Amino acid sequence: MTITPWWRDAVVYQIYPRSWADADGDGTGDLTGITARLPYLADLGVDAVWLSPFYTSPQRDGGYDVADYRAVDPLFGDLDDFDSLVVRAHALGLRVIVDIVPNHSSSEHAWFRAALASTPGSEERARYVFRNGRGADGEEPPNNWQSLFGGAAWTRTNDLHGSPGQWYLHLFDSSQPDFDWSNPEVREEMESVLRFWLDRGVDGFRIDVAHGLVKADGLPDTHAGDATPMWDQPGVHEIYRSWRRLVDSYAVPGEDRDRLLCAEAWVEPPEALARYVRPDELHQSFNFHFLTTPWNAQELRTAVSESLVQASSVGAPQTWVLSNHDVMRHASRLGRSSATVQVDTGGIGPDAEQPDAELGLRRARAATAVMLALPGSAYLYQGEELGLPDGVLPDDVLLDPTWERSGHTMRGRDGCRVPMPWERAAPSYGFGPGPSTWLPQPAAYGALAVDQQQGAVDSTLELYRTLIRLRREHRLGVGTLSWLDGYGGDVVAFTVTSACVSVSVIANLGTEPVPLPDDSSIIVSSRPGTHDAMVGPDCAAWVRR
Ligand code: GLC
Repeated sequence: MTITPWWRDAVVYQIYPRSWADADGDGTGDLTGITARLPYLADLGVDAVWLSPFYTSPQRDGGYDVADYRAVDPLFGDLDDFDSLVVRAHALGLRVIVDIVPNHSSSEHAWFRAALASTPGSEERARYVFRNGRGADGEEPPNNWQSLFGGAAWTRTNDLHGSPGQWYLHLFDSSQPDFDWSNPEVREEMESVLRFWLDRGVDGFRIDVAHGLVKADGLPDTHAGDATPMWDQPGVHEIYRSWRRLVDSYAVPGEDRDRLLCAEAWVEPPEALARYVRPDELHQSFNFHFLTTPWNAQELRTAVSESLVQASSVGAPQTWVLSNHDVMRHASRLGRSSATVQVDTGGIGPDAEQPDAELGLRRARAATAVMLALPGSAYLYQGEELGLPDGVLPDDVLLDPTWERSGHTMRGRDGCRVPMPWERAAPSYGFGPGPSTWLPQPAAYGALAVDQQQGAVDSTLELYRTLIRLRREHRLGVGTLSWLDGYGGDVVAFTVTSACVSVSVIANLGTEPVPLPDDSSIIVSSRPGTHDAMVGPDCAAWVRR
């Protein structure tokens, strides 16, 4: 019998370790806290957990600035805690995916310290992208590239005598120097890091900035309208072929134990993204096309159908995602006025237009009900199962480097990283034993805490649990989608057919109720109280015919 590999239809739950569960009460989440709360995820019904970085890091970019790829930051625990987490997860039937950050390290990584302490042209500098500046005294950056967090993508260093010296490249913060992937030593080191975690039992990796590793030869200036010389260069694919061979060597014949590789690649058009998931490359790539689609039926239909076509053109399953640690949560995003229903990392300040919380939650629940019916694999971000909105944070608590680097014009991503509420009546809403949380929790999180929703029929948590269970029972993740006609421009309507059953989804993105298909009955609906023959506005219903 052929096994369908687990990752083809998995529901993966992203944990941002800083903000999920704090066992020691220091206000920051930790691995022991995660381990203790894993039964919650088993009950939710997800297949796997993806942990954002917990490695040794100065936390200048929330751990995406890694100083030691083989160690746990004391903030989160130690390697023994990690091993216990994996054992517990596996005992509960949950796989564990970890983040790998191969584009850049922290400036506190031993390699980068050695590079700064050495001279131009040295082996130490050759692991990163050091260049002389332009201008008579090298006072201008080597090219015009901009950091994604704002400002120039280059920072000048001092030479050993303290005079201005070479520049180094950082596509993100200046504390995140980019590696030089044309250097075989970098490739070997990162493959050895993959093995380190595979040998500790992890089930896969989420690859940070997977499209950034290789830069165009000569590091040419960017020009408006041209292809960008730092993203999606052809050379990245050879790296992933090699990684695929590496993880495949860990497969156990006859057992469903593939180790997964999933790319974070903000690449367009969809055909370019599909190249990352060719059969000998990565298993999955995040589908940001879906995430960035506004609340518009026509656009949503197009996003879903193009996504499915592209993935199937290379035989890969599609992935679906609505929220993560880099974007405004979908319960907030979809509650903004239509002009601003889009993804941005600008964050919501106290003085900005505030999302309509009720509308946002209603649409978020409908969007999730669409997502969890779609064939492929779905990624959930911690707290979305509670319908959490972003935290609206005052200026003085913001930590995302975007805030400083943009000259206080972009607030950054802290709003979606606020610690989880577990118990309404407990200090820090049960995030930890004490009152402290590294970012303040909004008062609205109390009523949304896990203990308020668990077992409450119409709660968002129970809706997620039901959707995940039905998706699994009906094997929708390995089903086939066909569109249903005749519903008008504001409706997304489709049927997913798997070996066992057909489920139709009617999602109403308009303002008028729409009728259900004849002789159909609702299995689950995103809007409490939808039992009659109509699907109301901002509601998605799963029906059987
Ligand atoms: C990815 C991460 C993001 C991080 C960036 C730099 O986009 O998801 O959080 O800031 O890479 O590592």
